[in-house]
Amino acid sequence: MEGKWRIPFNRPSFLGNEQAYMAQAIANGHISGDGLFSHKCHELLQKILQVPRVLLTTSCTDALEIAAHLLELQPGDEVIVPSFTFISTANAFVLRLARPVFVDVRPDTLNLDERKLEALITPSVKAIITVHYGGVGCEMDDILEIGNRHGLPVVEDNAHGLFGKYKGKYLGTLGCLATQSFHETKNVICGEGGALLINDPKYIERAEVIREKGSNRIRFLRGEVDKYTWIDLGSSHLPSDLLAAFLYAQLEVREEIQVRRQRIWNFYYESFREWGEQHEVRLPVVPEHCDQAYHLFFLIMPSYEQRQRLIEHLKSRGILSVFHYLPLHLSPMGQQFGGKIGDCPVAEHVSDRLVRLPFYNTLTEADQTSVVNAVLDFDC
Ligand SMILES: Cc1ncc(COP(=O)(O)O)c(C=O)c1O
Repeated sequence: MEGKWRIPFNRPSFLGNEQAYMAQAIANGHISGDGLFSHKCHELLQKILQVPRVLLTTSCTDALEIAAHLLELQPGDEVIVPSFTFISTANAFVLRLARPVFVDVRPDTLNLDERKLEALITPSVKAIITVHYGGVGCEMDDILEIGNRHGLPVVEDNAHGLFGKYKGKYLGTLGCLATQSFHETKNVICGEGGALLINDPKYIERAEVIREKGSNRIRFLRGEVDKYTWIDLGSSHLPSDLLAAFLYAQLEVREEIQVRRQRIWNFYYESFREWGEQHEVRLPVVPEHCDQAYHLFFLIMPSYEQRQRLIEHLKSRGILSVFHYLPLHLSPMGQQFGGKIGDCPVAEHVSDRLVRLPFYNTLTEADQTSVVNAVLDFDC
C-alpha cells in the first residue's frame, strides 16, 4: 500500500548498526527472547530513564496486557481510559474482565482531561490509564494527586512519548507502570515491539513471571533457582533477539532521531502557523512545562468535510495523510459498555477533523516542502 505513494505517511529505515547487530545476533546463536541484545536494550533504557526495571515485549499492546494482569483486576472492576486513544489502551484491561470508563480529552493537548477525572471515580474504579498523545505529557501532577488520594494506580500508555518529558521528568517514569511501542510508525522502531517500564519495584518479580509463560525461568537463567517451573499465569511476551538487535541499533542513535524529528515538527509548525490562523485550522499545542517527543504532526480542520477533502487533495499529489483515533466510547465495543454520542464531546469533535501528515525519520526537506506546499494550496 505505502509503495504507491510519492510521499508515504511512514517509512521505516536503517539509521545505524541494525543490519550488523542482527547478523551478530545470529552469529551469537541466540535469536529467541532475552538474548544479548535484549539485555543491552533493558540496561540502556534503565540507565537513560532511571527506571528500576525495563522488560522488552512484542508490542505496546502486549506490555499493556502485562500491566493489566499485574493490577490484579477482578471481573467488574473499572478502569478509567481516555476515549481518544488506540484500541489496546482499553482492550488490554477488558481482557482481564474490567470495564472501561471513558473520559474525555483536553481540547488543547488532546490528553486525558484531568478536570473530568474525579467525577468518574467510584468504588469500582481500580486504575487510571493515561496516554501522552503525540508524546506531549498529560497533566501528571494533577492525575497522580487524584490517583494517590483515591488509592488508584496510574499506568502511562507512553506508546508515543519515549524521551519526552513532563516538568523535566521522562514520560513513562511517573506512573507505577508504563508501556512503550517500537512499532514501525514510532520514533525508535523494530517493526513490532514494545516495553514495560516498571517504576514500582513491587511489580518486578511477577512481571518477569507473566512475561515468561507463567514460569520462573528468568530466575533460573540468573542462577537464582536450580530449575524452572510453572508458578503463575502468563504468556509468551518476549520479542526475538533479532528484533532487539534492530532496536538496540536505533536506541544508540536516539539523539540523532530526536534531532531529525524536531526539525520536521518545527518545519511543519512554522509553515502552517499563519495559514492555520487565517483558515481556522488548529495546530498541536505543547504546554511550556512539556518537552515533547516529536512523535507526530497533525492539523485539526474546521470540519469533517474539509478534513476528508484535504486527505483526497494530498492523495492526488501522491501524498498519504491519515486520520487518527475513532472515539473508543462510540466503537461497537465501547457502546457495549454504555458509550453513547455526547459522552466525550472533545474526542468526538477532534476525531472527525484531525489529519496526520507524513512524519518519519528520513523525510527529506524537499519532500516535506512538497507536503507543506500541497497543504497551503488546499482550497479551504
Ligand atoms: C496510544 C497507543 N497505545 C498503544 C498502541 C499500540 O502499540 P503497539 O502497536 O506497539 O501494540 C498504540 C499504537 O499506535 C497507541 O497509539
